[in-house]
Amino acid sequence: MTRTVKDIPPFPDYIDGQGDHDFMQAAWRQGPLARDKFGIVSGFSMAQMEAFNDDRWTRQVELEAMWAAGVTSGPMFDFVRDMVLFANGQTHRNRRGPLVRTFAHKVIAELRPGIAERAERMIAPLRGTGAVDFVAEIAGPMPARVIAAIIGAPEKDTDLFARHVYSAIRGLSICSEEIRAESDADMAALYRYVAGLIADRRAAPQEDFLTAYLDRVAGGPLDENEVRAQMVGLVVAGSDTTRGALTATVSQLLLHPDQWAMLVSDPDRWAPAAVSEGLRFDPVIGSLARISTEPREVEGYLLPKGTFVAASMLTALRDPAIYADPNRFDITRSDHPRLHPVFGGGPHRCLGEALARIELEEALKALARLAPDLSLDGPPVRLRGYGAVRTLGPMQVRI
Ligand code: HEM
Repeated sequence: MTRTVKDIPPFPDYIDGQGDHDFMQAAWRQGPLARDKFGIVSGFSMAQMEAFNDDRWTRQVELEAMWAAGVTSGPMFDFVRDMVLFANGQTHRNRRGPLVRTFAHKVIAELRPGIAERAERMIAPLRGTGAVDFVAEIAGPMPARVIAAIIGAPEKDTDLFARHVYSAIRGLSICSEEIRAESDADMAALYRYVAGLIADRRAAPQEDFLTAYLDRVAGGPLDENEVRAQMVGLVVAGSDTTRGALTATVSQLLLHPDQWAMLVSDPDRWAPAAVSEGLRFDPVIGSLARISTEPREVEGYLLPKGTFVAASMLTALRDPAIYADPNRFDITRSDHPRLHPVFGGGPHRCLGEALARIELEEALKALARLAPDLSLDGPPVRLRGYGAVRTLGPMQVRI
């Protein structure tokens, strides 16, 4: 007899003080799938993650998460309605095509020297200044400033821009009324800002990313709200992900002084490997959610059409079928899949991977060169949560 969703074991009780990885591993030990109190079915292995990303039987969540949070209008609602990540089928292809083409690998690779210089400019003045708030001073500003510059914001505006971004992002998760109102106000400010940049470029085209993007979408199927949403979307998708990844990677390197020493001894050689391992070991994305579009048997359970499924990154990236000794942080490992799974798979695979890697690598190289004695000044960072972009705690360092 085929078992149904009701037969899938519920998640185990959370034990106070238990880390997210331990909790998800405990759920995985019960069986290949677990069900939460909302009926969302989580899968744990890499194979499940690949299966859930297969758009022949699942689709991306669109506005369902907003509705579930009781949000039915406002700037964040409009953003989710119009952005590439939350769309399916032809609408998704219409939004993604011009972005991917403008974000071509060559264009992004050319940004490396500028990003390296930006990283050094940020880190050099912090040397010898005592305890430094790593998230506020380095990991946060770096990606927000890089993307602000890519879409053409003048340098003087980039910090204001960064503040709007990090405040607005809070509204993508379930949050209080107060945070929702602040997030909406910041999202509206980002839209106004982007609308201004777009108007400037249309009036006076330049040799830049935004002008190239506007040329590509001109006369196409996207309406003006969608055009703006894709630019805001790049900023939103690329900021807190990269901020968390940089903080988590540096945290792990400092907890493993032998591996930090390897990076310091040869930053060009070890930075890319440290980035891949940092992204795997404590991933900034907790899980990828989808909705099934047809009934499907998974691991002996029949999931009806319309089932919410979530592939856990925390467990898939420590799947022993893929990674040797998966709970060990090891920048020398050679078993990363060719396409790093932290950037997703299928039609929504991250289109900012090349940029994120450049930012992370150049930040690590600059730290290794300018601050070889870098140390934690307090506890390592803690990323929290199992879903979407995980919440980032504080981290103090001495540079
Ligand atoms: C360490 C940094 C990053 C990580 C871990 C990451 C991860 C991801 C993942 C997992 C997805 C797919 C989500 C899903 O399938 O539901 C995604 C999509 C996306 N990412 Fe990233 N990302 C990062 C940085 C960036 C950057 C720097 C940008 C751009 C500036 C960016 C832009 C996007 C966009 C636009 C999408 C939507 C693609 C689509 O729906 O077709 N990301 N990212």
